[in-house]
Amino acid sequence: MPNITSKKPLNVLVMAAGLGTRMKSNRAKVLHELGGSPLIAHVVRAAQALNPQAILVVVGHQAEEVERAALAEVGDLARFVTQAQQHGTGDAVESARSELENSDSLVLVLSGDVPMIKSETLRKLIEHHNNAGAACTILSVRLENPTGYGRIVRDANDSFQKIVEHRDATDEQRQVREINSGIYCFDGKELYRALRKVEPANDQGEYYLTDVAEIILADGGIVSVYLHADNREVSGINTRAELAEFENLIRRSAIRKLMLEDGVTFIDPSHAYISAEAQIGRDTIIHPNVSIEGKTVIGEGCVIRSGARITNSRLGDNVVVKDHSIVVDSQVDSNCAVGPFAHLRMNAVLEEKATVGNFVEVKKSRLKRGTKAMHLTYLGDATIGERTNIGAGTVTCNYDGKNKHETIIEDDVKIGSDTMLVAPVRVGARSMTGAGSVVTKDVPPDSLVAGVPAEVKKSLK
Ligand code: UD1
Ligand code: CA
Repeated sequence: MPNITSKKPLNVLVMAAGLGTRMKSNRAKVLHELGGSPLIAHVVRAAQALNPQAILVVVGHQAEEVERAALAEVGDLARFVTQAQQHGTGDAVESARSELENSDSLVLVLSGDVPMIKSETLRKLIEHHNNAGAACTILSVRLENPTGYGRIVRDANDSFQKIVEHRDATDEQRQVREINSGIYCFDGKELYRALRKVEPANDQGEYYLTDVAEIILADGGIVSVYLHADNREVSGINTRAELAEFENLIRRSAIRKLMLEDGVTFIDPSHAYISAEAQIGRDTIIHPNVSIEGKTVIGEGCVIRSGARITNSRLGDNVVVKDHSIVVDSQVDSNCAVGPFAHLRMNAVLEEKATVGNFVEVKKSRLKRGTKAMHLTYLGDATIGERTNIGAGTVTCNYDGKNKHETIIEDDVKIGSDTMLVAPVRVGARSMTGAGSVVTKDVPPDSLVAGVPAEVKKSLK
């Protein structure tokens, strides 16, 4: 628990109302994605781990979407306050006054654009705050290049004096490498008392939350600074260049973990794109330019060739996905092969040893054990039995212009090349269709059909 020495409950306030002009985007900054989820999701996830009473998110730009993203991550632990016009970080906190002023709680203030922050670090910040008996504790780091950040200005005794924004700083202050992370722990009452005195007397004419620290100090309160060692963790994302840098960092560390802990081979780790939630089994080989997205699970001994994209799907062991195949929301059991240039989507299921080859699309269909569709085929809304062969150019004509219909093909069937299966239709076990057949009626078991429309030509019994 974070607040061991203080009995005060914890509330988290996340500032996420700004557009983020430096992103040069029509989308609010906190909605831009990092490692597959929006920035705001990362922040509320870190906050949730602290077991706060509530996570209050200050929303403004694209409020509805920001709210949805936060709710999707932490459910109704998240609550929202609106800051209609963005007059600065002080004004953002001000907009939650009625919620927090009288709650007699600790208020942990986070920025929606500082997504790498770890809950462990936040715990330490709160602990430091409680031990110091402070009214305000600022999380700081030292940076090689502090350009753009607010600087922590200290006096001759090294005690905190104030925070000065880069654009308001003197040349001398700009030499300071210690910066304000934009993450703070406050005594709620002290915070809202001091906030009343903040004036927009700066270069941007904004209400700066950072001024609160100096005000608390002047009023005799204790302001402490918690200097954290890992500066990447508290870096704010302000531009797309920074976003790409962090994407790269997250990606590299996920791939490193897969190599070192899980025994996955990457032919070229710098050209693989693997989501943080993906799981990949031992001795699987990932070729260059592969994307593994979302909550994908891949078994052991698989080979994923170049240009493949696998999203929210489940692969068994020893599966080969050949070049430029797409597998989305689907399941491929052990010892199957897919591709090259195959497309599995909307809950396509390949059972053991099934094979789907060149330019084959499978939508919402199941291919049972050992069944093959090797070339130029569309299988939609179909259930196909075991050991069946689907000839080149076969199409399940599943759509009549209004509704989708099902095709059922039983075990041990041979569908001839260029067969059109006009659904709803069933092909019985052990039957065959001749090349170019247009099958409009059910085919009984053990029979050969051919022609347009296909008729029974002979029994195969
Ligand atoms: C802020 C700090 C700076 C610190 C830096 C760390 C101030 C004045 N400066 O600067 O000292 O080094 O963060 O990243 O606080 N927001 C609102 N409403 C507003 C303004 C901002 O919700 O009216 C939100 C933004 O959406 C963003 C966060 O607050 O998520 C930070 O705002 P931003 O404008 O990025 O502040 P910085 O200039 O980075
Ligand atoms: Ca920022």
